[in-house]
Amino acid sequence: MSAKVIVVTNQKGGCGKTTLTMNLAGVIGLQAKVLLIDGDPQGSATRWAYSSSDDNPFPAAVMSLANITDKVNREIKKYLEDYEYIFVDCPPTIDNNFTSSALLIADLALIPVIPSPTDLWAAVGIQKLISNVSEINDKLVSRLVANMCQSNISISKEALELITEFDFPKTESDIYQRTAYRQAAAFGGTVLDLDNPKAKQEIKELAKEILSLIN
Ligand SMILES: Nc1ncnc2c1ncn2[C@@H]1O[C@H](COP(=O)(O)OP(=O)(O)O)[C@@H](O)[C@H]1O
Ligand SMILES: [Mg+2]
Repeated sequence: MSAKVIVVTNQKGGCGKTTLTMNLAGVIGLQAKVLLIDGDPQGSATRWAYSSSDDNPFPAAVMSLANITDKVNREIKKYLEDYEYIFVDCPPTIDNNFTSSALLIADLALIPVIPSPTDLWAAVGIQKLISNVSEINDKLVSRLVANMCQSNISISKEALELITEFDFPKTESDIYQRTAYRQAAAFGGTVLDLDNPKAKQEIKELAKEILSLIN
């Protein structure tokens, strides 16, 4: 067994890194052995997992590596044989080496973006970093994930045009803005535990799509 490593990153705060990491790791964790690495000193992923109840524990193991920034790849390597998937929730900065180091060992980089021009402009830095790391790690696959889409307008034409300017495409599945994602954080679970069929469906589709990208 050698785990596939999925790094969720964007230096923009509030775009949904932790929300997507937790829901994807939680969904995939129901069927496979998953480790979730919290790389954010704010510790939201760790707190999320520890908010779950004893009779419905979070379906993935959680560990914080937020106190180390260099050689994160070396640290992650230690766990490759014990898990099938390792998710890394990155800090909202690319100024320290955490993200670049995690990307060195990644199979997949997911970049959540709110599909609005300002948020897409802000993702240019992470695109540069990914393209630099790709020169060393040639197995790295990258995808934008449109998060907090609004059902009435879907993704605007302007945003879609900006998305096509990136070096990598967006996933086919989009994630919409739904209260279920906020509720899931509050009780330490995933949207699968909630009565919101649309949220369940979109997160399962995204999980399936990312698994097919790396398997
Ligand atoms: N698809 C969504 N629908 C509704 N709220 C969302 C969604 N994704 C994220 N949020 C909310 O937006 C805020 C920021 O999300 P978070 O995952 O913490 O972002 P990041 O980790 O990138 O800083 C949180 O309050 C979260 O609950
Ligand atoms: Mg976060």
